[in-house]
Amino acid sequence: ALVVGRRVRSRRKWKRVVGVLKELEESCETTVGRLKQVVDAMAVEMHAGLASEGGSKLKMLLTFVDSLPSGSEKGIFYALDLGGTNFRVLRVELGGQRSDLDPDVEQQPIPEQLMTGRSEDLFDFIASSLYQFVEKNDSVQSPITKLLGFTFSFPVKQTSVSSGVLIKWTKGFAIRDMVEKEVAGALQQALTRKGLNMRVSVLVNDTVGTLALGHYHDADTVAAVIIGTGTNACYWERTDAIIKCQGLLTTSGGMVVNMEWGNFWSSHLPRTSYDVKLDAESPNPNDQGFEKMISGMYLGDIVRRVILRMSEESDVFGPVSSRLYVPFTLRTPLMAAMHEDDSPELTQVARILKDFLDIPDIPLKARKLVVKICDVVTRRAARLAAAGIVGILKKIGRDGSGGITGGRSRSDIKMRRTAVAVEGSLYTQYTMFRDYLHEALNEILGEDIARHVVIIVTEDGSGTGAALLAASHSSENVNNIQ
Ligand code: GLC
Repeated sequence: ALVVGRRVRSRRKWKRVVGVLKELEESCETTVGRLKQVVDAMAVEMHAGLASEGGSKLKMLLTFVDSLPSGSEKGIFYALDLGGTNFRVLRVELGGQRSDLDPDVEQQPIPEQLMTGRSEDLFDFIASSLYQFVEKNDSVQSPITKLLGFTFSFPVKQTSVSSGVLIKWTKGFAIRDMVEKEVAGALQQALTRKGLNMRVSVLVNDTVGTLALGHYHDADTVAAVIIGTGTNACYWERTDAIIKCQGLLTTSGGMVVNMEWGNFWSSHLPRTSYDVKLDAESPNPNDQGFEKMISGMYLGDIVRRVILRMSEESDVFGPVSSRLYVPFTLRTPLMAAMHEDDSPELTQVARILKDFLDIPDIPLKARKLVVKICDVVTRRAARLAAAGIVGILKKIGRDGSGGITGGRSRSDIKMRRTAVAVEGSLYTQYTMFRDYLHEALNEILGEDIARHVVIIVTEDGSGTGAALLAASHSSENVNNIQ
């Protein structure tokens, strides 16, 4: 009777866990219908953000990038890329003709204490690394000023293509004395302190760098998306559509707009109780809502929260591990590794749960459950990112919805080939994420239209693109392409 009693209890507990999973699945639901509502909301918010300052949670920031590299750029240019877990310095030689760029790149992690300390310390650290990098490749003493493209992947209110102030930090950075301060100026001062003859000639968001490199390789590129530690997008907009800056004139008639879509919000987004808690406990509550459902900084933590809840409600994971209470213990790359474990016994899952969450020896059934949780969380993220992309296409009339062609049927519409440059570890390193994103693009657009939308993966685009922009915006390189 005792054994039977235990079995009944365990079955009941398993039932409870299944209930938690079901609830998760339901609240993460992303039917095509719902995704289309997100698409529409994105396009509407884009309009609102362009109409007036503060008109939407989408900031739709001006970048002053009014031309994109064409391939004719010439010379040696440097770039510095700051904004995720790592920072990169790179040097690229441009020969005046479009070619496979092969920049010299060095990468290092940013010491954690510098992400929350004083801005001077961070910029001095960066300037020193740059100094050593230049020393290896060129003469640091040269009287010729070297041009530097600075990729700074946070929301910046630009005052020109080479200057702007930080609006707020995202992605866990918190250097208080930098907020509302001139970003390129802070770097320039550090370079001068170091005695480095270099000028910050463009200050760009990582999405803008990615768009620049995408456009360099493929002139049909109209937008760029980053899905890494954070998520964001930028695209090419006509200046007359940027209503909040009436009278804005550029020779090309257009300008790149940094959407800061990480802060997008809509009541149509499928939100769970885990998202609500994650947001409340984050250093930036009520901010970056879209980013918190999609990007690498957060996905693993959503999964941790679900496992914690299941563990508290049942014993399928054994006694509740205290590690489960520690935020960000389950990093997204580990989550991806569990999700993509194709061994029959799910040995990767078992190892990761044991090593990182202190959950040893759980039955196969429970390991499968973990894989399922990862799947639900990643699928929602990838599909929402896809809806965001289609939102941009819709705004610029490239979603095939026929806004420009009148009442013709979908199949009659002549769709122009449209390329979107994508970068970031979630897209490039996480196959399941990428597959779900493509699948959703097809579902939302329909295959006829989706055929005309090309996703281009740019490698190191955010940095290389900044070097290209430093080149195309230098006086020696005249270009006029759009
Ligand atoms: C965050 C930043 C944004 C950046 C994105 C991707 O959302 O606010 O500027 O582009 O992360 O790195």
